[in-house]
Amino acid sequence: MFLTRRALSRRDFLTMVGGASAAGVLAACAPSPSLRAQPSYVDPGGPQVLAAEARRPTTGRIVTASLTPRPLQVDLGGRVVSTWAYGPQLAAREFRVRVGDRLRVSLRNQLPRPTTVHWHGLALRNDMDGVPGLTQQAVPTDGKFDYDFVVPDAGTYFFHSHEGVQLDRGLYGPLVVEDPADPGGDVDQVLVLDDWLDGVAGTPDQQLATLRRGMSMGGNSAHSGMAGMPGMGAESAPGMAMPMSSLLGGDAADVSYPLHLINGRPGNDRYTLTAPTGGKVRLRLINAGSNTAYRVAVGGHRLTVVATDGRAVQPVEVDAVLIGMGERYDVELRPSSGVWPIFALAEGSTTGGAALLRTTDVRSSVAPDPNTQPAELSRQVLTYRQLRPAAGQILPGRRPDRTFTVAHQGSMATYQWSLGADAGKLDIRAGERVRLVLKNISSMWHPVHLHGHTFALTDFAGVRKDTVRLLPGQTLTIDLDADNPGRWMYHCHNVYHQSVGMMTSMRYLT
Ligand code: C2O
Ligand code: CU
Repeated sequence: MFLTRRALSRRDFLTMVGGASAAGVLAACAPSPSLRAQPSYVDPGGPQVLAAEARRPTTGRIVTASLTPRPLQVDLGGRVVSTWAYGPQLAAREFRVRVGDRLRVSLRNQLPRPTTVHWHGLALRNDMDGVPGLTQQAVPTDGKFDYDFVVPDAGTYFFHSHEGVQLDRGLYGPLVVEDPADPGGDVDQVLVLDDWLDGVAGTPDQQLATLRRGMSMGGNSAHSGMAGMPGMGAESAPGMAMPMSSLLGGDAADVSYPLHLINGRPGNDRYTLTAPTGGKVRLRLINAGSNTAYRVAVGGHRLTVVATDGRAVQPVEVDAVLIGMGERYDVELRPSSGVWPIFALAEGSTTGGAALLRTTDVRSSVAPDPNTQPAELSRQVLTYRQLRPAAGQILPGRRPDRTFTVAHQGSMATYQWSLGADAGKLDIRAGERVRLVLKNISSMWHPVHLHGHTFALTDFAGVRKDTVRLLPGQTLTIDLDADNPGRWMYHCHNVYHQSVGMMTSMRYLT
């Protein structure tokens, strides 16, 4: 059932990804290193990066904040669990800035392990991108790092640890970049979706070990860790079939999570959003999950999709939105008077996260059960085919200067996920139009994410994104302008796939 093709070992990949050692690998492969010039790459803090930063328009306003990742206890609906997070209210540390502001965040690492902060989706200066071993050294325990950059584009983003599987703990938060020209609405609300196991069913590191061990032994033990967890449906019992989704082309996820959170809260303590009846409500949906795609709907309402991954699209009305890990969607609605369920279905399963939408005119405290799944979930779900870039978001047509083919390969049986050989050669030059042909030759979907750029999906009307769902057997062609010099990660945003090797980097040559 699962295909294994040319899987590179994790060690090969770490070697290829590591910025400094990559040149050594290339040289070692060359027939005669002394005769072949080694490629020289832009340094994360090099003059090209500083020049690009100096060109970014700025408001002159400086926004300062601090992040102190640390071990702590969080209350998940009455269940107190130990985790690592930036604060006791998961996902509550929202950064809201204006485009052109300078964001200065001082990180103080109080975790027992090194960490970094990555600003997901922002085309920021390379040395602030927060990728350990590529753009900076990981910040050790008790160490500090000052992130300091001009915020380049308006839209919905998030920040998270980029070290190991730390994203699957509480180390994430929303980042909203406001556009002063945006008329806004009555309510502008972030909803961060997250699949949660830390402190409830082991830790993410234990989960990773289980995936690597369990699958190679031929069992389905990756799904067995959550047996008997309260709130688990029968579908996640050990030995049962994996969650399947036709929208994701089959196998939907590797891990069954005991909890699904919206804004850091489980269904029995769900987040409540209040809004005036008929008012304009914008929901900024962010999937900060590690292994779960979510299908989101609001009972009794249709949703008008206005942006994805921070980029405006021509408004399109649907009943529900499917969101892969790392993707963001801004949707708008005008609520009817009442108390309405918001549900984020873990795609392919029967469980999910819940929140409430309550209009201000409702006095009664009666609310739908948190397990209420709106009928909208099984109506019209947004597809990429329905998306069109908004007028200001069109990448002008141009012949690519370089084309790379990146094969996404691997297998659940050995739990080795990797990228094909071309992925080790994503060397580009500033000013080029770059084309990547993404091929999925595995039997599972992958949310593919590129740092520091937004690409145009040529198969879908050129809609701009930084994270795209690549289905089994699918080939997608993405185009981008090389306008942000540096060394940029390219990886699957399934954090377990990423950490076993489905990652590489795209590097600017000097
Ligand atoms: Cu959310 Cu490498 O990214
Ligand atoms: Cu993947």
